[in-house]
Amino acid sequence: MAEVIDGKSVAEDVVRTVKALTAELVAKGKAKPGLAVVIVGEDPASQVYVASKSRTAKECGFHSLQHTLPAETSQEALLKLIAELNADPEINGILVQLPLPAHVDAGKIIQAIAPHKDVDGFHFINVGKLGTGELDTAFVPCTPAGSMLLIERVRGKDLSGLNAVVVGRSNIVGKPMANLLLAANCTVTIAHSRTKDLPALARTADILVAAVGRPEMIRGDWVKLGATVIDVGINRIPAPEKGEGKSRLVGDVAYAEAARAAGAITPVPGGVGPMTIAMLMANTLASAYLAAG
Ligand code: GUN
Repeated sequence: MAEVIDGKSVAEDVVRTVKALTAELVAKGKAKPGLAVVIVGEDPASQVYVASKSRTAKECGFHSLQHTLPAETSQEALLKLIAELNADPEINGILVQLPLPAHVDAGKIIQAIAPHKDVDGFHFINVGKLGTGELDTAFVPCTPAGSMLLIERVRGKDLSGLNAVVVGRSNIVGKPMANLLLAANCTVTIAHSRTKDLPALARTADILVAAVGRPEMIRGDWVKLGATVIDVGINRIPAPEKGEGKSRLVGDVAYAEAARAAGAITPVPGGVGPMTIAMLMANTLASAYLAAG
């Protein structure tokens, strides 16, 4: 049976380190790191994520600011808020929770965030730095950054020559994940909905990353013996066995099946999920260090 990769525990380690480094910064008389989280509308999943981000920021000792705006907020009002946060010296990181309402051009909003405060790593400058291997000065998107940390925990830092297959080509996870694995000298394939014979391709993977948002799509017989399986999916599905109207969370991987073949696998929940928030704290701290000089 596979080793279960405990993302919750690794995330706690990261948060503990961020908290200690924040205390050091403050002890030197520098301002505490400031994180502004902006949420527009009332998407329940987004509300849960944002509350968790703000809570962890406080736990780290950050100055934590949350802007909760109504769904009908105009693009102009949002751009004005971003401009204010860009200019605010107390703020080191700005995160606009996605998805945004349809009447707002999310791309415009993301590109309005100052690149040096773009702790999500979605601005073209940071995307470009990651794509060209300028990892030292790039903000890397939190979910792929956290996934890399989990991979390194089980496989060590040298991933050179391993076959990595990333299933999913989103800008938030699939593409940056592929770039990180490439920077670590893996042989990387990005698979997506048009990929031919995905099961056969998946079976070539020493590292298999699933980020498609389709519950339990990746089956046990798609997993190479001993592979490291990273499941980024968080899908809520009906669970009538738990009672009427109940639901449960599952990943993009059929966990019980895959765990029989994998060498190591992340569970859902408790795998990649907690890492996303932990890496957001790490990015915000890094931004504060840069600002403090
Ligand atoms: N929505 C889902 N994941 C993310 C993320 O990593 N950052 C932001 N801003 N919104 C998201």
